Amino acid sequence: MKNNKYTVTAALPYANGPLHLGHVAGVYLPADIFVRFLRMKKEDVAFVCASDEHGAAITLRAKKEGTTPQEIVDKYHGINQKAFADFGISFDIYSRTSNEIHHQTASDYFKVLEDKGSFVKKTTEQYYDAEFEQFLADRYITGTCPNCSNENAYGDQCEKCGSALSPLDLINPVSTLSGNTPILKETSHWFLPMDKHEEWLRTWIKEGKLDGVQQHDPKLWRNQVNGQCMSWIDGGLHPRAMTRDLDWGVKVPVEGADGKVLYVWLDAPIGYISATKEWAAKNDKNWEDYWTGDSKLIHFIGKDNIVFHAIIFPILLKEHGGLVLPDNVPAYEFLNLEGDKFSTSRNWAVWLHEYMAENPDKIDELKYVLTSIAPESKDAEFTWKEYQARINNELADILGNFVNRAVVLTHKYFDAKVPSRGELTAVDKDVIAQMAEFPPKIEGLIRKYKIREAQAEAMNFARLGNKYLAETEPWKLAKTDMARVETIMNIALQITANLTIVFAPFLPGKASKIAEFLNCGTLDWNLAGSAEILASGHALNENKPSILVSKIEDTFVEAQVAKLEASRAAQAVTASATNSNISHNPQKDETTFDDFTKMDIRVGEILEAEKVKKSDKLLKMLVDTGLDKRTIVSGIAEHFAPEDVIGKKVSVLMNLAPRKIRGVVSEGMILLAENSNGELSFVSPEESSFNAGSEIN
Ligand code: MF3
Ligand code: ZN
Repeated sequence: MKNNKYTVTAALPYANGPLHLGHVAGVYLPADIFVRFLRMKKEDVAFVCASDEHGAAITLRAKKEGTTPQEIVDKYHGINQKAFADFGISFDIYSRTSNEIHHQTASDYFKVLEDKGSFVKKTTEQYYDAEFEQFLADRYITGTCPNCSNENAYGDQCEKCGSALSPLDLINPVSTLSGNTPILKETSHWFLPMDKHEEWLRTWIKEGKLDGVQQHDPKLWRNQVNGQCMSWIDGGLHPRAMTRDLDWGVKVPVEGADGKVLYVWLDAPIGYISATKEWAAKNDKNWEDYWTGDSKLIHFIGKDNIVFHAIIFPILLKEHGGLVLPDNVPAYEFLNLEGDKFSTSRNWAVWLHEYMAENPDKIDELKYVLTSIAPESKDAEFTWKEYQARINNELADILGNFVNRAVVLTHKYFDAKVPSRGELTAVDKDVIAQMAEFPPKIEGLIRKYKIREAQAEAMNFARLGNKYLAETEPWKLAKTDMARVETIMNIALQITANLTIVFAPFLPGKASKIAEFLNCGTLDWNLAGSAEILASGHALNENKPSILVSKIEDTFVEAQVAKLEASRAAQAVTASATNSNISHNPQKDETTFDDFTKMDIRVGEILEAEKVKKSDKLLKMLVDTGLDKRTIVSGIAEHFAPEDVIGKKVSVLMNLAPRKIRGVVSEGMILLAENSNGELSFVSPEESSFNAGSEIN
């Protein structure tokens, strides 16, 4: 049989913050389960993802944290890549859109479309922030959504109703940079005339046909996806700018486009192709095999990404030519947390990297819960109480309990060897018949992207095992009819072996632990459903089984809820400070004591000071640090005259890497306090006997 090729993608997360459980439940975990299943079926899969490192999501975050976009993406790419790996999301590659191969791929892609005449270059009036001297697109501008009246819609998209917007669509537009109402100013851009594509899109989405050829089964697309797409198309598509006036991103590869980059929603989905290329090159494969012919392209995404994956990217793929269009775009609704929306800015979230740091032994427990509540067809909610209930009442009491009984009784009665079967009773035959039905049912559900139901069926399989043992009661028969017990335990062990197979995509850790108890290695999906997996006489692991699933204590739940409450309380403090017109930045991410002690801070005395030439802001100072006399440049010239600072004792961050500022090398940093009026004050020792060189820690 010829294997099918699949390219499975999971939405590239912006490298502007850590991942929370909402992201995991509604994109990465279901994609991973789907892929693990395909691999078990020996399909040829490329599972690709990357950090989305361009766009206003990144530059605005950098501005907010007072740092550079590069530092932001390096930081969060690192955190997210590690969290995915720790949690066992089995990407074949997790790349980043700042890689050279991606810039090249996206740039070439743009040129192909430009040469084909897929874009229209137009000069139009766009919103502009006169104070910041910047054009305002995407997240640089907010306003009221014309479709659903959400007051916080972005310039390119309303995350509430999912519409794709242009800044000019917004009612009451406001610049996110200055808070001012923007003015209009002319600029030129490359537009994708989406209106020209309405016709084929309609047939392709409704009927799955392109140029009369069947491409996909439209019945397998979720209603939500079909519905959103049809309502946009019916409402009329409009030309959409594919370039931006920004300096962070993939440069527009055309003469005379200085200061322009590709729109992030043009560049990011091409990242799927770049990542496949990178993976293929490293693994002796051909990336084209996964993007052409009858390879199936499947995009796992959140519902706010539908328009980009089901309309805009397909147009770009078709215009390019020779590439496959998506076979399906399984989109997920949103997950809420303890009665409220996940919110990064309000720190109302359970962060994946934190969960992994605190609970490295509870990976599959979290996977089980998140799949049980996956927001497949409607919004869903995560609560720690439900987390506890699902783990204790289902994972431990049903799966854990059944596996434990089957294995422990075999140790007890049969010296850990699989006993042979005698004559079968009606109950046995019925169970064997039911066993055969589960795997195809689970497979069918996974292939229809009903991952949540599929896992529920796997758990029903374990329930069947429990019920069988409860009905046959081998522990009672052991006193009277050992031959009968042999048959029962043989069947119970066959069910157990089946469970290692059907749970493997969902709970890979637990599945291999069960396989270890059974000493049966990794079992092929094709064996699933069989009642003859383990041969009579096969020796189980000679060690008694350990606990498969530990129960979650009330104290654990209470601690987690308390942590969330604390962040709500901290938020309330910030909010009330804001109301009293003093706004404080939120507390930064937690740091470790070790990281803190890496900083060498000492008292320094300013010996000399002068303004840096041609700069209003910079003061160049000679500072006695006790260790040495060094030059430090600081942006304080508008606050202090040189003569005011000479003789001052200040706090100096000694081991900051030297930086060249306006041609002067600065070897350290002077610490300053800033009040709500923007006034500055040195952080200085109160006592005069604390001389240069005194250490601060
Ligand atoms: N970064 C986007 C988001 O988080 C998703 C990008 S998906 C891709 O909403 F198609 F652009 F890659
Ligand atoms: Zn809206």
